[in-house]
Amino acid sequence: MSISEMDLRPAVRPEPEPPARPPRTMRGLRDRRDELTTRIALGNRDAVARQHSLGKRTARERLELLLDEGSFVEVEMYRTGATKAHTDGVVAGSGTVDGRRVFVYAQDFTISGGSLGAAHAAKIHKVMDLAVATGSPIVALNDSGGARIQEGVLALDGYGGIFRRQVEASGVIPQISVVLGPCAGGAAYSPALADFTFMVRDTAQMYLTGPDVVAAVSGERVTHAELGGADVHGGRSGVASFVHDDEESCLEDVRYLLSLLPSNNVEPLPIVPHDAVDDLRPALADIVPVEPNRPYDMRAVVAELVDGGEFLEVHEGWAGNVLCAFGRIRGEVVGIVGNQPRVLAGVLDTAASQKAARFVRFCDAFGIPLVTLVDVPGFLPGTEQEYGGAIRHGAKLLYAYCEASVPRVQVILRKAYGGAYIVMDSRSIGCDLSLAWPTNEIAVMGAEAAVNVVHRKELAASADPATLRATLMERYADELMHPYYAAERGLVDDVIDPAETRSAVARGLAMLRDKRRRGPARKHGNVPL
Ligand code: HXC
Repeated sequence: MSISEMDLRPAVRPEPEPPARPPRTMRGLRDRRDELTTRIALGNRDAVARQHSLGKRTARERLELLLDEGSFVEVEMYRTGATKAHTDGVVAGSGTVDGRRVFVYAQDFTISGGSLGAAHAAKIHKVMDLAVATGSPIVALNDSGGARIQEGVLALDGYGGIFRRQVEASGVIPQISVVLGPCAGGAAYSPALADFTFMVRDTAQMYLTGPDVVAAVSGERVTHAELGGADVHGGRSGVASFVHDDEESCLEDVRYLLSLLPSNNVEPLPIVPHDAVDDLRPALADIVPVEPNRPYDMRAVVAELVDGGEFLEVHEGWAGNVLCAFGRIRGEVVGIVGNQPRVLAGVLDTAASQKAARFVRFCDAFGIPLVTLVDVPGFLPGTEQEYGGAIRHGAKLLYAYCEASVPRVQVILRKAYGGAYIVMDSRSIGCDLSLAWPTNEIAVMGAEAAVNVVHRKELAASADPATLRATLMERYADELMHPYYAAERGLVDDVIDPAETRSAVARGLAMLRDKRRRGPARKHGNVPL
């Protein structure tokens, strides 16, 4: 048979019976939806087990710890990206903390290592935009292998969109970043751009280049924790503002921090009702020694000043010579900056200047009044400091205070010498109310150093330089360092009994509550970064 004689028409086969489909009912569709939603929420069993075996919770378990029970509203749960997995490795949405709205995203390490691709990034962009639009804080829970390698430049583009939004939202809504796993490469810039960064010991790591690259480039061998663990960033680099031993206490402290912050830069501060009680704090006079160089713990002073002795210290493990903390005075939130005489005698150095400067700027951006507790011998001398940019970093703190338009109360406890006196919110740079204890000594420098400079020739020529020095020091102290010298010249508003510090500060803050100050119009100043 030739080909033209062949019957090329397809054989007619009987249509197969369609499989029996369940009738399309609302109940059936709802069951299917419920089954899918449960499957997405439960995730991959093995990957979840591995996450738990690493001592980490899943993204959803973390959100349960962070948010008020049952308050989470998820967005784009069904969204898939290059991973083809629902959520694309990030759980995003909004919930409440103590009844106040926050936006959140939690990276899900069980899906492609929480790596960030285009869809994953788009979800983050969405909640960031909603946070700004509604004037709500944003909390990021990071646990990610970084840019999703398979998506190439789209992943990098996604990161850029996060960074740009963070900068635009800076000073508009509080931004909190929590690192609960790896946060490698450029991804680390997101915690660095946030207002506050939390890390958990043993499980969180943050670095620009991992141990393998470090070894390949420089031969240096370090572990993940040595390179970028929580203690490294909480104690040495200063990237982490808070370090915790476990996820529960970490997320609990995120809630506590949020309770102290306004939701945005125009909302009034969260006030808790406070019964007017006796504000006298006689213990203060015993905590601070009269001798100018005897150490004590400034935390004990702060505990006396704030409601219930409760405060939240920021960067507790870094630059301990300056203390930065949030607390309440008569129910109202304040930002406290204090020299810490028990660490390096409370001198200012490069790290302390940077730490305090960033804290002051945060408080100013969000309308949180500043209370500055001064007991400072000066700047830390030495080549290490000078070569490390002590002048540049000190200028940051100076700039931050000069620029701050929130109510500013300064309390000088003991000594305040030289440039460090000026920088610690002196009258000359704009503090609104300066209070001093009767122990205050404000001067260009301490008596001995001053006498050695001014009377160098006389001392060299003297037969008894020790006696002469003692006499000159006494005279210098009597004339220039006595507790009323600055007050008589209008640089201190009041010399107060230490026991009355809390009430004097509270009265000052009440007086300044409606303070408004506007600088000249300009695009922005040029803060010495
Ligand atoms: C795609 C990734 C990934 C990534 C991890 N995974 N990181 N997939 N892109 N960046 C996947 C893994 O293939 C694996 O998939 C799953 O996530 C879990 O990873 P493991 O390696 O099995 O987990 P673990 O042993 O715990 O190690 C975690 C890790 C490691 C340390 C994070 O995965 C790692 O080193 N990843 C690469 C980190 C990195 O170099 N990222 C790029 C940084 S540069 P399966 O399918 O096997 O479960 C960057 C640029 C950003 O981020 C620039 C912004 C400006």
